[in-house]
Amino acid sequence: MDRSVFGRRRQLVRDAMGQGALVLFSAPEFIRNGDVHHEYRQDSDFFYLTGLDEPQSALVIIAGANPKFVLFVRERDEAREIWDGPRTGTVGAREVFGADESHCIDELAKLLPRLISGHSRLYHRFAVVDAHDGVVMAALREARVRHRRELQPTEMIDAGAVLHPMRWRKSESELTSLRRAIEITGDAHLAAMRAAPRSSYEYELEAELRRVFRAAGSERSAYAPIVGSGPNATILHHIRNDRKIEDGDLVLIDAGCEYEYCAADITRTFPANGKFTDAQRRIYDLVLRAQHAAFDAIKPGATLDDVHAASLHTITEGLIELGFIEGPLELALSEARYAKYFMHRTGHYLGMDVHDVAPVTGKPATFAPGVVITVEPGVYVPNNDDTVPAEYRGIGVRIEDDALVTDHGYENLSKAIPTDASEIETLMAS
Ligand code: GLY
Ligand code: MN
Ligand code: MN
Repeated sequence: MDRSVFGRRRQLVRDAMGQGALVLFSAPEFIRNGDVHHEYRQDSDFFYLTGLDEPQSALVIIAGANPKFVLFVRERDEAREIWDGPRTGTVGAREVFGADESHCIDELAKLLPRLISGHSRLYHRFAVVDAHDGVVMAALREARVRHRRELQPTEMIDAGAVLHPMRWRKSESELTSLRRAIEITGDAHLAAMRAAPRSSYEYELEAELRRVFRAAGSERSAYAPIVGSGPNATILHHIRNDRKIEDGDLVLIDAGCEYEYCAADITRTFPANGKFTDAQRRIYDLVLRAQHAAFDAIKPGATLDDVHAASLHTITEGLIELGFIEGPLELALSEARYAKYFMHRTGHYLGMDVHDVAPVTGKPATFAPGVVITVEPGVYVPNNDDTVPAEYRGIGVRIEDDALVTDHGYENLSKAIPTDASEIETLMAS
């Protein structure tokens, strides 16, 4: 990954801040038991501005007349590096990561009061990690005493206010990583589809997904893969993936990998034996029509609400036609009668995080070129729903693609993975 991108982002953040000091921390480490940690994944905001994936790090960006980028990192430690691998250290922080100034993380509490003094604005990602809030507040308290003749922060601003509108609109470099994440994820979905007819358990398909992710150089799954067969397809976050797949089941796979800290989020639903039943096909085609309607609503100026409304309209109409809910359409929509079968939103923002950030203004954000969203309508018929014919019970279908808002509409970034039911059957037969 080209490191110059991080310097450009820091400059844009400084421009957005105008003046003040920004303090951000690396993600905390989580102990699993004893001296064993959970897999580490850097905080997205911190990575966005540094490219540094080490724990126990912090950054300070000063904007205004005397701009500065200060990194706090763990010092080199020969003995520890035998166990945990190389550390950047304070020299690497300057030479590799472009810090103007670097210090050992142990110095943070001592040096932070000096760094935040002389500025009226203090930016920090408040209320995420209590311990980090504590460090920032202690520094502020200390600064008011030690540097009382200087200007002190009086405006506390959430760092998300400057960072998240930036992260929301993807640059070319992020799109390159995202496209690769989607490409690898597509290969993984196709591999899992092909493996399904000769697989017995959901976890075998999960293994196939994870194998393709890692073999292609993806760092990790962007979220725990969902492999729901039969009625498990109606459990939205089914991640146990431990059921035996039966002949005649639909299999819903919602999985995406992360590549260079960009997440794919893709769902396909297909028949385990390669052939949809008529009932499965009716539900499937309805969801696909809803997805097409949702896509048609994507353009600059539209909102996630518009995309959701478009898919809701189609799904509600379809559920009435199937006799699952009562019409008329307008009443079914206003009373949310569809909610028994379609209970989630049609999409969310996608980027460094699978449920990505967006500007928070109190109003729905209006799409701009560079924004990426998922488009993922679904229909889930409860297994015990005796108000519908037996052939439909336990059918769950979701189809999820990742769409980039362009100047005049959208680009479906995951269109290489077929969604048409006949195309899926042909693919599985090949
Ligand atoms: N995979 C999580 C979601 O679709 O939102
Ligand atoms: Mn998903
Ligand atoms: Mn999603």
